[in-house]
Amino acid sequence: MILTREEDAILDGEKGEALSFAMKILVNLGDLEEAEGFVPIRSAHISGVSYHTAGEALIRFLSDLDRMGAKVLAPATLNPAGMDLERWKEIGYPDDFASKQMRIIELYERIGVNMTCSCIPYETPYRAEPISFGDHLSWSESNAVIFANSVVGARTNREGGISALASAIIGKTPDWGMHQEKNRYPTLKVNVVGKLDPFHFNLLGAYIGKTFNSEVAYFTGIDIPVVKADLKQLGAALAAKGGHPIYHIEGITPESHYIKNSEQDGIVNETLSVTPIELEEMKSDIYPYPADEPDIFVLGCPQFGISEFQRLYNKLKGRKLRKDKRIIVYTNRALQEMLDPKVLNGVMDAGVEVYNDTCMVVSPLDRIGFDRVATDSAKAAHYIPKMSNIPADLMPLEMIIDLACE
Ligand code: F3S
Repeated sequence: MILTREEDAILDGEKGEALSFAMKILVNLGDLEEAEGFVPIRSAHISGVSYHTAGEALIRFLSDLDRMGAKVLAPATLNPAGMDLERWKEIGYPDDFASKQMRIIELYERIGVNMTCSCIPYETPYRAEPISFGDHLSWSESNAVIFANSVVGARTNREGGISALASAIIGKTPDWGMHQEKNRYPTLKVNVVGKLDPFHFNLLGAYIGKTFNSEVAYFTGIDIPVVKADLKQLGAALAAKGGHPIYHIEGITPESHYIKNSEQDGIVNETLSVTPIELEEMKSDIYPYPADEPDIFVLGCPQFGISEFQRLYNKLKGRKLRKDKRIIVYTNRALQEMLDPKVLNGVMDAGVEVYNDTCMVVSPLDRIGFDRVATDSAKAAHYIPKMSNIPADLMPLEMIIDLACE
């Protein structure tokens, strides 16, 4: 990388140990990716918060940064932790897990990161910096990255938690990948033939993610308008099953016109068509390990937003949960404060449990008594068996309500 005089001085330690350490992380990354310089960032979003997924190594890393006096320069928000930070005891988390998790939270707070514990920073204005088209960001958390790039038109690579934190401390990120327009052009055309329901958006993302790993997909044929919740699910599934940082939808996403550049440059590698029925038939190939008779249904991956709460409320239509079943919704405190109390109370009166700060993937489900779960999220169904070693079925919300309710 070619550094400015000031960046060189930071690297040499003239502005202190913490800044030098963070700059070394970013320069190593930039050199690896052949970035020529840095771009200033509007915000950072940091994953790697759960003690379940990051363990002792994260506590050691954050303790070292804190000892060096590290403080964030750019606004920075935090991904979900491994438990509801207020109700963990009642839910059944072990004390040893909770004390380690609280130590991680305390260390991030000392460094100046906002305790949002949200994976939807694009949807939670409280304590999160609003983002706009063209903003450069340094975000980890793949669902947030793909939403910011695709739906907002902001620019971020799929950072790791450490590089996002280093960028928050320096206020800049290496200029490569998604920060440059040419890398955002579509390389794959997918024509959708037929009307998609919310569950199909999950299956579409999972199928394209699994089959075409890192291509930049351009979807045509999707009916307008599309609700934000469906765009969240499409992106989360694409990024979970593949390495996708961005997608485009004709007539919907702000950079879909880049298809013209792709066609001029001859970089569209493949064109295919897919129908909703074909997607349903592929489900068992994409998710081969369904849970046998699930008794706990987990919703909110990515964490529930306002429209998802409203949809659940509408679908429940006053029905109550069966005594032997549970439905758990994961969201965050800021989002919950924005909800219409009628909707929140209606959902909870049906027997649905609502937890904040965490999710079904970064929580140690096996340590709090879960053994057979089902979800409506392709991303959650992909990760739960890997993270908690229990089977997870994938099914539409309507089926979940029919199985769980009287
Ligand atoms: Fe969010 Fe957890 Fe899913 S962090 S995207 S709810 S895996």
